[in-house]
Amino acid sequence: MYTLEELVLYAKSYGFIYQGSEIYGGLANTYDYGPLGALLKNNIKSAWLKSFYVKENNVLLDSSILLNSLVWKASGHTSNFSDPLTECKSCHQRYRADKLIEEIDKTINVDTLSFKDMDEYLLSHKVKCPSCGESNFDNIKSFNMMFKTYQGVVEESANMIFLRPETAQGIFINFKNIARTSRKKIPFGVCQVGKSFRNEITPGNFIFRTREFEQMELEFFCKPHTEKKWFNYYRNKMCKFLLSLGIKKDNFKIYDHPKEALSHYSNATSDIVFNFPWGFDELWGIASRTDFDLKAHQTLSGEDLSYLDSDDNSKYIPYVVEPSLGVERLLLATLFNGLEDETLPNNDTRTVLHISPVLAPYKVAIFPLNKKEQGAHASKIFKKLSQKYSVLYDETGSIGKRYRRADAIGVPFCVTFDFETKDTSTVTIRYRDTMIQERVKISSLNRIIEKSLITKE
Ligand code: GAP
Repeated sequence: MYTLEELVLYAKSYGFIYQGSEIYGGLANTYDYGPLGALLKNNIKSAWLKSFYVKENNVLLDSSILLNSLVWKASGHTSNFSDPLTECKSCHQRYRADKLIEEIDKTINVDTLSFKDMDEYLLSHKVKCPSCGESNFDNIKSFNMMFKTYQGVVEESANMIFLRPETAQGIFINFKNIARTSRKKIPFGVCQVGKSFRNEITPGNFIFRTREFEQMELEFFCKPHTEKKWFNYYRNKMCKFLLSLGIKKDNFKIYDHPKEALSHYSNATSDIVFNFPWGFDELWGIASRTDFDLKAHQTLSGEDLSYLDSDDNSKYIPYVVEPSLGVERLLLATLFNGLEDETLPNNDTRTVLHISPVLAPYKVAIFPLNKKEQGAHASKIFKKLSQKYSVLYDETGSIGKRYRRADAIGVPFCVTFDFETKDTSTVTIRYRDTMIQERVKISSLNRIIEKSLITKE
């Protein structure tokens, strides 16, 4: 597997991910997605939507990033959405205390530690500041991670609002509208993809933890006492989804949160953790959130958010199961999972991104062997295929170099127009993973590409 440093270099040099605001010296921990990164991100979102929205017959929402501040009061974010902040009294570097402890002892479940426990741990274990090496930490304070801003022209506290730290609350506050207008009967889910913002104390590991990121969240509303069944259903589906996208079985596992570490509103929570170079770390979370959110919004807003079940005329506040995934985390996992520097039988080497055709930025590459001889024909087919797929067209350099570049960015098929093409209406198709080449009819290209985009879930 690539190291983090190797992957950062790869992502930059091939146009997946650039440092944010680079020409101004950068802005720490911000990233811009280049031509390939933007395509990959879109493909990830489309695959998730197809699986969790289309195939499940759920519905879609696109709610605002800016919400009434009472939303965050009801959800508990105003008082509880915080991390334990500690400061080194010698060099004034700030850290998340739980992460400092976790790094020293991976067997400790930091979720079960109080601030006092963490203070004591830092002191009794003489934990050293990673920056200056001193063991001199200040008492831990609670640091709220919501980004504040002001609405309107006057910057006063009455106008203070927050950038959403999750997309989920937009779904809860629209539950009544959605249930009424979609005419969906419970159980049903609402999917939302969009930006979230968190003022993380220690962002890091490239795009793994950033302050601006995108989430793909599903809030699945169900009848009380059926939530465990739905929790297991979606927990299972999450694994199948990853496998269907070619994420290797050994590269991820499920971590079930122990009962004593669950949030007050959850009766079950699991994470899918991925094998990143720094160890298994959270890729995707699923929580059974009971009726906590809808109840809290009902209490604070005064709106009745209960549901009348026409099956048995019962009235209840629905329970919620929530799988929540970061787009960038899946993107990072996809790259670590698929990138390889391979030595070929002739001792040549190639960089290859083994990525599912569904996610591949380009679905196919079109190469005329000779620009003058086959360029016009190849570009005609390129234009035709481009009506349906993102296609790479390259007519310069040796064919070997063109293959290498296509392999490195994960193009599943390279199609070469050569001297036989004109008379036989055939081309050579080369498969990225096996490097096997075969002659096929131009008319069969569409079917070959289409077949590769069918996933087994
Ligand atoms: N609504 C539930 C929720 O937001 P979460 O565990 O805080 O739960 C869900 O976040 C997912 O969002 C995570 O599993 C991760 O994939 C992604 N995520 C969270 N914080 C992130 C960050 N700072 N940078 C990138 N992705 C993040």
